[in-house]
Amino acid sequence: MNTNKNLFQGYVELYHNGLFHVKSMALRCAVELGIPDAIHRRGGAATVSDLVVDTGVHLAKLPCLRRLMRVLTVSGIFAAADHQPAPPSDDESETVYKLTPISRLLVDDDGDDGASSTPRGMSAMLRLLARPDTAVAPFFGLGAWLRDAGAATLFEAARGAPTWSLTRSDASYNEALNDGCAADSSFAMDAVLNDGAAAGGASSIFRGLGSLVDVGGGHGAAAVAIARAFPHIKCSVLDLEQVVSKAPSDGTVQFIAGDMFQSIPPADAVLLKYVLHCWDDDDCVKILRQCKRSISARDGVGKVIIMNVVVGYGTQDNVVKETQVLFDMFMMRYGGAEREEHEWKKIFLKAGFSDYKITPILGFQSLIEVFP
Ligand SMILES: C[S@@+](CC[C@H](N)C(=O)[O-])C[C@H]1O[C@@H](n2cnc3c(N)ncnc32)[C@H](O)[C@@H]1O
Repeated sequence: MNTNKNLFQGYVELYHNGLFHVKSMALRCAVELGIPDAIHRRGGAATVSDLVVDTGVHLAKLPCLRRLMRVLTVSGIFAAADHQPAPPSDDESETVYKLTPISRLLVDDDGDDGASSTPRGMSAMLRLLARPDTAVAPFFGLGAWLRDAGAATLFEAARGAPTWSLTRSDASYNEALNDGCAADSSFAMDAVLNDGAAAGGASSIFRGLGSLVDVGGGHGAAAVAIARAFPHIKCSVLDLEQVVSKAPSDGTVQFIAGDMFQSIPPADAVLLKYVLHCWDDDDCVKILRQCKRSISARDGVGKVIIMNVVVGYGTQDNVVKETQVLFDMFMMRYGGAEREEHEWKKIFLKAGFSDYKITPILGFQSLIEVFP
């Protein structure tokens, strides 16, 4: 009897997990249609008929849009409430869709929706996470890749080129990657620098620095956030030519085209945000050795600041635990990884550093200060 009960639960969860990709694709579709923006523009509440008008969905597909919104409402991406028209109207009640903390992050429109904390949109990152050719398709080859002895990464096996060559030859991937990273940096760094409690008081990590170089800093969103929060820190960004040449610059930070494996400009501190999880351990050691050469030798000043997951750190509820290990599988495409503390420690010591300090931030990420 008990066995059957367990099996029935297993049966439910098998379907639940097997259909995970439908949720991800429904979310991607909602972003593609601009549904979070549409709800935001209507003051934070919209019916399915409003959404048909605002998103260009064909009227004949309205029932399908309603089903899409039902999935995303059950999943907590949107909220739904029944709206009863005021008398004398005898219209039937209608479902009204609202934003939740998840979909609020996907609003790209500037301006206020009545909730003053609306951050800059993360929709570009969501698009990158669910991008068909570079994020989803490689995983269809995972089984064959695992059986293969070759040294190519999963990404190379699927796309025929390493990631950072593809950003050179494929302008649309370059743009998607840079926009996605900038969206994350803008939200995450704003939270780290300005929301002390949520970020575990992490902004103090940047205090006392005179200069910082954001290595692999993309279009500079993290460096700009730091320069605005700490105007006395001279911030620069080192990234590949194809990235730096497309970066929008208002002069707040200096952009330098280069290769972090070759050399890194001198600064008090180096920031590596979402960089080391793209690389295997040996490459991380090479990058960190270059960082060590670049940071200030002044006692107590020079350090490397890494923003990445430390698996097992953070709030450790099921959502956080699963997000950390899903992110790890995601980075496996590039030959990279999300690491546990002992794996980080091994890399730091091998690169010649003597100590480190981990500060968990934003639920599932950490800032790691690494000291020479
Ligand atoms: C995942 S992105 C992270 C971007 C940014 N730090 C952020 O968090 O938004 C990795 C970055 O590393 C850069 N990168 C890759 N290889 C590099 C190299 N050899 N030298 C400098 N930057 C590199 C990429 O162009 C990309 O911008």
